[in-house]
Amino acid sequence: MSEKYYEDWQERTNKEIEKRPERKTSFSTSSSIPINRLYVPDDMGEQYLSEIGFPGEYPYTRGIRRTMYRGRFWTMRQYAGFGSAKETNERFKYLLEQGQTGLSVAFDLPTQIGYDSDDPMALGEVGKVGVAIDTLQDMEILFDGISLAEVSTSMTINAPAAVLLAMYIAVAEKQGVAKEKINGTIQNDILKEYIARGTYIFPPKPSMRLITDIFEYCTEKTPKFNTISISGYHIREAGSTAVQELAFTLANAIAYVDAALEAGLDVDEFAPRLAFFFNGHNQFFEEVAKFRAARRMWAKIMKEKYGAKKEKSMQLRFHTQVAGSTLTAQQPDNNIVRVAIQALAAVLGGTQSLHTNSRDEALALPTEDSARIALRTQQIIANETGVADTIDPLGGSYYIEALTDELENKANEYMEEIASRGGAVSAVEQQYMQREIQRAAYETQKKLEKEEEIVVGVNRYQLDDEPQPELLRVDDRLVEDQLQRLQNIRETRDNEQVQISLQKLKEVAKGKENLMPSIIEAVKAYASIGEICHALRDVFGEYE
Ligand code: 3HC
Repeated sequence: MSEKYYEDWQERTNKEIEKRPERKTSFSTSSSIPINRLYVPDDMGEQYLSEIGFPGEYPYTRGIRRTMYRGRFWTMRQYAGFGSAKETNERFKYLLEQGQTGLSVAFDLPTQIGYDSDDPMALGEVGKVGVAIDTLQDMEILFDGISLAEVSTSMTINAPAAVLLAMYIAVAEKQGVAKEKINGTIQNDILKEYIARGTYIFPPKPSMRLITDIFEYCTEKTPKFNTISISGYHIREAGSTAVQELAFTLANAIAYVDAALEAGLDVDEFAPRLAFFFNGHNQFFEEVAKFRAARRMWAKIMKEKYGAKKEKSMQLRFHTQVAGSTLTAQQPDNNIVRVAIQALAAVLGGTQSLHTNSRDEALALPTEDSARIALRTQQIIANETGVADTIDPLGGSYYIEALTDELENKANEYMEEIASRGGAVSAVEQQYMQREIQRAAYETQKKLEKEEEIVVGVNRYQLDDEPQPELLRVDDRLVEDQLQRLQNIRETRDNEQVQISLQKLKEVAKGKENLMPSIIEAVKAYASIGEICHALRDVFGEYE
């Protein structure tokens, strides 16, 4: 019986391979032992078919694509951004030259919270944790010499996501790239900002409206653009357990789907462009099991709870960033090892896109050398280890399958509790998830202090004195240049047009129309992110 199921799946997969061949015509070990595309149990019972199944088929536990990395490696997508658009553009080009296959923009905090670089609230933060973006001109510089027809770009922006998306669309147009062609992801996940990260601006209701307006606009106008990256990363970085990361992320995802349905959108229209973003943490096998459980849970939620019909609506596609919180300032080279192991877990867990941290990021933004080693880590895993040559290689392990089941069961318990509290938005307003995370973080800290958990170089195997590594320093003169550029724009743009577009934006915000078109009009007039967000603050107020 098992043989038949497996052969049938192979037949269906071979049909796909005719259209999209695998990386190699045959795969074998160093001893020339042929490597099968997939390994399955001899006696494949009903349980296997319903709970584990085949890659590329419901419930996707073993991977969302029939050939996974035999067809294409995951996207190597390094999060990067600092100083002004020019510096970041240079780092983007360096990483692309070194072989990364996707872009990922880190914005500075003023941009993330909707303030211009010359706003008093921005003092001391301009260009610090990411690139400073004030107007469309900065975005034009950011992507200068990079064709938006050829790259996929992730933008880690949430509260003002609509503004940066509008700028990206405007830059594509200036490059002559049709909206329908642009490919990328906007993080656009405000719930985890309330829960864990803090870069929110508006209260939940208008924030959810901005998010579903992006869903609606992109479904129609930029169909290859992923409209949200529902993030567990920051929840885990705040100290949650793997189960909480899984449960709270999926609970947030349910809130976004409910909000989109409430806005009148069709689930099979918007769901295929929902994306996810998880942490790649230290507990190797638990992390692999977490990713497998996430795929199965999401497939069941979309099929059973929402009646989704399209396969793409049920496939959980995710990016992984390995855990920044596990990087140590002590003996920073040790972080190269931590990152490699965490990255391996993400690959064995079937990630679609991956960022590997640099060894010095517990101390500063990464130097070029450190960023290169982080990228090389992925390239070594992809090209030298063979782990990408068969699908879900840990599948079938007694430990992995039991852990996958256990994580799903425990995450479901949390999700039932959140549902009983009225869903994720209510649970956030009740501080429920925040309290659960704080409790978990406290427990972890206690274990570290009692040395029940060891961090090499920190609470064991310390060095008396350590050489200070060379760190990246962002030149403060970049701030002056940024402020000068912003002032020049303000003096040379058509200020009447700016005011008209901001006034129109306020009128639309007071109504129910989709906000994207008027935001696009404002960014094209070179209205700044601060001016646009202040116009929206006037209508929506701010979340305290
Ligand atoms: N067979 C057939 N097709 C395949 C294939 C295979 N084996 N493998 C890939 N493909 C195809 C896909 O179908 C896709 O084509 P499509 O767009 O037409 O469907 C194409 O190849 C690209 O594949 P993916 O979509 O899987 O990979 P991407 O990299 O394009 O997208 C994603 C991955 C997870 C869906 C997307 O949302 C993404 O890139 N996310 C990145 C998010 C990110 O980088 N976030 C960083 C945040 S940093 C942060 O917040 C932390 C900070 O605060 C500290």
